[in-house]
Amino acid sequence: MDNRVIIGGQWGDEGKGKIVDALSEGLDWVLRYQGGANAGHTIHTGGKKHVLHLVPSGVLHEGVRCLLGGGMVIDPWALRDEIMALEEEGLAVRGRLFVASTAHLVMPYHRRMDELGETRLKRKSIGTTGRGIGPAYLDKIQRTGLRMGDLKLPADNLERKAIEKILAANELLSDFYQAEPLPARTIAEELVVLARFLGPLVVNPYDVLRGVRAGTESALFEGAQGTMLDIDHGTFPYVTSSNSTVGGALTGTGLPPRCLGEINGIYKAYCTRVGNGPFPSELLGEQGDALREAGGEYGATTGRARRCGWFDLVAGRYAADINGLTGVIITKLDVLDNQPTVRVATAYETEEKRLEVYPSFAEVLSRCRPVYRDFPGWEKPTGGCRRLTDLPAAARKYLEFLETGLGALIVGVSVGREREQMIWTPTGVGT
Ligand code: GDP
Ligand code: IMO
Ligand code: MG
Repeated sequence: MDNRVIIGGQWGDEGKGKIVDALSEGLDWVLRYQGGANAGHTIHTGGKKHVLHLVPSGVLHEGVRCLLGGGMVIDPWALRDEIMALEEEGLAVRGRLFVASTAHLVMPYHRRMDELGETRLKRKSIGTTGRGIGPAYLDKIQRTGLRMGDLKLPADNLERKAIEKILAANELLSDFYQAEPLPARTIAEELVVLARFLGPLVVNPYDVLRGVRAGTESALFEGAQGTMLDIDHGTFPYVTSSNSTVGGALTGTGLPPRCLGEINGIYKAYCTRVGNGPFPSELLGEQGDALREAGGEYGATTGRARRCGWFDLVAGRYAADINGLTGVIITKLDVLDNQPTVRVATAYETEEKRLEVYPSFAEVLSRCRPVYRDFPGWEKPTGGCRRLTDLPAAARKYLEFLETGLGALIVGVSVGREREQMIWTPTGVGT
């Protein structure tokens, strides 16, 4: 059974949602394994646009079961709203959407602490999505968090437990942040109401995934964020608070390594980053603005303008190696259709030396200047291409260079936002 893992190869927003949607038809399961509502996965099908934050991108296929894995942090208010929005669109969600009892809850105080923490950092702020992700993972690691399984407690027990947590958070809010405390009883009562709505979705992940373990049910693992935002392997501290690399697929689902099949990294044909932190191949000024407009690079979660730049092969190769990618999917090739020249960062230079290897400290990365290799643009539309041979020769040359540099076969190329705008290249793009 080939249980594919989909991982962001860059700084997030690579188009994972579109690819997961394109690959999940006919599967038994799509599993999210880390992150929370900081993710924003946009999928266009049949002229309709869907934006998902917590619910896995397999949900648009009615036969697919979806699990929000134990490695996630879940804002129950946001999850309820997302389920209701999907149901309003006429999608049957109940009965095939499940939430691991072991996933942690994002509470209103986490969101508040996320905002206040960012304000305290001032110029050094991370530029988080403000969804309470870091503080919720902090409570998990500190062993004080509430979990989705708690929503199954008798109402008065849940209310009492929630009040206890909110009062403890209020102490931190007033003593450390000098901020207003939150209304404990009101929030706890709201949580009890949410528990009635979400409780029936909460399952023991070990139990529901037994078919995947046994190899009788297929699954696709849907990563959120990207490798360069991984808490351990990304540009720390300008990262998110979870493992968005391949290890997260194991710890975030509780499935053993033998359940992982192909490991596919999703990369844009260029780079973007939202929030702060080093980005050596960033294009500032008009060129960056033009790329942003061509690619519609505005965040699906916060609406922020994404920083744009050329493909970074140093970081890209690092991501391929860290995750052990068995295949790569390049998205948004069509966005480069009008570029007379397309550039790729193949090495970095600091004042002192040239670096071919990705540095493990953001401080070093922030002093790196990219060394570029230039490619002639193809200056032809690619959105209608469905086979590798339909692509202009210059576009194929560019892809071949990326394939060699990344050290993994390019198994798919996306040339537009619609589900069918894909070129599948299972044997790679090289000749
Ligand atoms: P994710 O977070 O990795 O799922 O990516 P996002 O959904 O945040 O951002 C990717 C954006 O690019 C979305 O708006 C997609 O509709 C769009 N998109 C995905 N693939 C392509 C493509 O090949 N070409 C174009 N033009 N847009 C794409
Ligand atoms: P998807 O799944 C792009 C970024 C934020 C910030 C940093 C930390 O759509 O690819 P957080 O709120 O997680 O504490 O913010 O991570 N970030 C993302 N950037 N795509 C995402 O998700 C992101 N999720 C978080 O902008 O720099
Ligand atoms: Mg996104």
